[in-house]
Amino acid sequence: MKIWIEDNPTALAEAVAEHIASYIRNHPGTLMCFAAGDTPLQMLGKLVEKQRRGEVDLSSVRYVGLDEWAGIGYETKGSCCQVMRDSFYEPAGIAQDHMLLWNGKAENPDRECERIDAWIRDCGGIGLALLGIGMNGHVGFNEPGAPTDAPCQIVKLDGVTASVGRKYFGGAECPAYGMTIGMPRLMQSEEMILMATGEHKAPILRKALMEQASGAVPASLLQAHPKLMACMDRDAWHKL
Ligand code: GLP
Repeated sequence: MKIWIEDNPTALAEAVAEHIASYIRNHPGTLMCFAAGDTPLQMLGKLVEKQRRGEVDLSSVRYVGLDEWAGIGYETKGSCCQVMRDSFYEPAGIAQDHMLLWNGKAENPDRECERIDAWIRDCGGIGLALLGIGMNGHVGFNEPGAPTDAPCQIVKLDGVTASVGRKYFGGAECPAYGMTIGMPRLMQSEEMILMATGEHKAPILRKALMEQASGAVPASLLQAHPKLMACMDRDAWHKL
């Protein structure tokens, strides 16, 4: 594991965006998996700016959504697909056939898991996964104690995720279940970035990176990845 620290969220966003742009330049056709959530938003904006300046062609790769709240779709502000379409896929001009996002409203969630997993397999696996960490150590919606052997899965969300998750929905209650790419598929990514900012993330980041790996803190399972880069700002590193 490499630990990468920048002074502040803006410097971190720029550094991670440059790393990802370079990965895309070197791996045309690969599959990228980007977490939604607040943490990567500035970085995603910087990637789009890089494309506008001609420094990277974001349409030269393909994309898969990491996760989604079950039961909602694009029309719900705060859904992962709404956040990602509005902040990245649309401004970056990514064609529909270059991306697959979760349908949170799928009638058959198991089939939805299979649809996402089939896309990942068809694309030859994930090249680079950009992940965030939840306040309870979740990755995507792989919650503490959830199965760690499913390629994709539906997970009952725990109390921490339910209360923190209100921030995406203007304070309203969030859905009870999440749909997510599972740990085995994420661990098969060629490269992995775990990104975190802010002092509030420091305690859980410490558990994830410095303590023994366990399904109770799903992000700690990433320690076993051969190319994990934990990228954080000084506030998130502060208490490690
Ligand atoms: C959310 C998502 C994750 C995200 C994480 C951190 O609930 N399920 O994919 O990475 O929690 O979110 P944030 O970046 O807003 O702190």
